[in-house]
Amino acid sequence: MRILVTGGAGFIGSNFVHHTVRTRPDVHVTVLDALTYAGDERSLDPVEGKVVFAKGDIADPDVVDSLVKDVDLVVHFAAESHNDNSLHDPWPFLRTNVIGTYQLLEAVRRYGVRYHHVSTDEVYGDLELDDPAKFTPDTPYNPSSPYSSTKAASDLLVRAWARSFGVQATISNCSNNYGPYQHVEKFIPRQITNVVDGVRPKLYGTGENVRDWIHVDDHNAAVWAIIDKGRIGETYLIGADGEKDNKTVIELILELMGQEPTAYDHVNDRPGHDMRYAIDATKLRTELGWEPQYTTFRDGLAATIDWYRANEAWWRPQKDATEAKYAQLGR
Ligand code: NAD
Ligand code: DAU
Repeated sequence: MRILVTGGAGFIGSNFVHHTVRTRPDVHVTVLDALTYAGDERSLDPVEGKVVFAKGDIADPDVVDSLVKDVDLVVHFAAESHNDNSLHDPWPFLRTNVIGTYQLLEAVRRYGVRYHHVSTDEVYGDLELDDPAKFTPDTPYNPSSPYSSTKAASDLLVRAWARSFGVQATISNCSNNYGPYQHVEKFIPRQITNVVDGVRPKLYGTGENVRDWIHVDDHNAAVWAIIDKGRIGETYLIGADGEKDNKTVIELILELMGQEPTAYDHVNDRPGHDMRYAIDATKLRTELGWEPQYTTFRDGLAATIDWYRANEAWWRPQKDATEAKYAQLGR
């Protein structure tokens, strides 16, 4: 099988490529990635010589056409992915997340290529802290931020192309991922690398906001389960029952790194900050038999901390520019 992985130099995409090379020797992988500030070709060092890398933009129809015509499957991870950036400058989110997805859909339609679309639980908006409900595939779309609204738009394009043109597509909506190779702008790596630098972690607002954490390898195993066994035209929600509030996560990072659990600062809240995400993954578990392997968050987080300690050379070049951006926002 020949597959095209978009965004394969980013966090989840690079872990997907590692996972694929490790577990599926029969799969030939080509990565298409524009290497934006969030992409790093070094994230593919562990699979050097085993995959083909193409630097290019998913919003460029010629680039997309030339690569899609030679594969059996496109797995689409590439996106502008950070909510805080989308509040500052939404345009790259529209261009990559909406126009880029459109160009991929037109190409897979032209060549009859199978397509898997990687999306987020944020398309459903947020839940109240005391609401017993979780997101299901039937939850109405209600995105809050420029990021999540462009991801919602891209999901709707996929649904329309599947229904109107018979594109062989599946969609997954996953909760917050953690693990190696995540950019230091994101919550968990930002706090770990702050502690390494002797800087106090930064908690937005009160820190009551809840995220439903899943290890990136569990996400990627679920993506493969959907590619292998998922029904065409269907949406699968991916989550591992990992709800934690941000305050608890920051305190656990501090404890695991040998610091006082109270040694963090409260900073300006994110405008429109979603309160809670929670996934009901019953469909994925019962229909496709997927189960998460990382069931103890504390252990997964400790391994992630070890990875950032051991791989400072990977994250160090991102750190100053990231913190300079946050300083402008008072966060
Ligand atoms: P990331 O920001 O770490 O990586 C995105 C990658 O896409 C980068 O390598 C970047 O260079 C590339 N890219 C950006 N614009 C591009 C363009 N125009 N053309 C080609 N490549 C481009 O993102 P991530 O956290 O790995 O997220 C990957 C996907 O998973 C996204 O679609 C995101 O919406 C989704 N998702 C993320 C999470 C999470 O917790 N991080 C959870 C659920 C879903
Ligand atoms: O739910 C899936 C989504 O998870 C993905 O679609 C996004 O691509 C991904 O970035 C993530 O979005 P969040 O906005 O939830 O992730 P982020 O890491 O930016 O923040 C997680 C929580 O931590 C959120 O409530 C904001 C808070 N936060 C974040 C940072 C960077 C802090 O308290 N302090 C911080 O320094």
